[in-house]
Amino acid sequence: MKIITVSSYEEMSRQAANRIAAQVISKPNSVLGLATGSSPVGTYRRLIEMYEAGDLDFSEVTSINLDEYLGLDGTHDQSYRYFMQENLFRHINIRPENTYVPSGVAADIAKECKEYDARIDAYGGIDLQLLGIGLDGHIGFNEPATTFQTGTHVVDLHPSTITANARFFADESQVPRKAITMGMTAIMQAKKVLLIANGPAKKEIVEKAFYGPVTPEVPASILQLHRDVTVIFGET
Ligand code: F6R
Repeated sequence: MKIITVSSYEEMSRQAANRIAAQVISKPNSVLGLATGSSPVGTYRRLIEMYEAGDLDFSEVTSINLDEYLGLDGTHDQSYRYFMQENLFRHINIRPENTYVPSGVAADIAKECKEYDARIDAYGGIDLQLLGIGLDGHIGFNEPATTFQTGTHVVDLHPSTITANARFFADESQVPRKAITMGMTAIMQAKKVLLIANGPAKKEIVEKAFYGPVTPEVPASILQLHRDVTVIFGET
């Protein structure tokens, strides 16, 4: 595991984007596992800049997102599909049909979960998985638990996650209580994992996850068992 500490969010974003760019340049038909939230916004901004400068081509890339709120469809401005459209997809030449975000409104959610995993398998797994980390150590929406559900599944969001994400909604009562998330198997089977985190509030959980014991109580700690993980922590 490589843990890189940099001084700022901008530097974290620059280094993360450079790694994703290297992946896409070396394998133009890469399968990228993507995340939402505030951590990757700057990374996506830099990828867009590289695309606009003619340095990156996403026409053969496939993206598979980690998660989606249950009950929000892609037109809801807090859905993760909408986030991806606004923060990345509509600015680059990725083919819309090659972008996957779990559906939070599928009529049969169990079937949606199964199909999501089957799709990841059909693509031969994820080449590079970008992750953020929750204050409780979640990755995707795999919340602390005594056992992990391994495949894509529905989760009850942890109270601290609901509070943390309330900043994006009118108030906390509007935050969905459930989400659909890729499970640990697909994340752990990704060929490379790139986790980004920044700010003093994330320092403690980053230390716990990567210097503490491996335990389902800190889901990101499982990444210590992955053979190609880079963590970039921005101090501010
Ligand atoms: C988002 C996701 C979450 C976030 C985490 C950190 O797709 O999977 O695990 O990465 O909640 O969120 P931010 O970056 O907003 O602090």
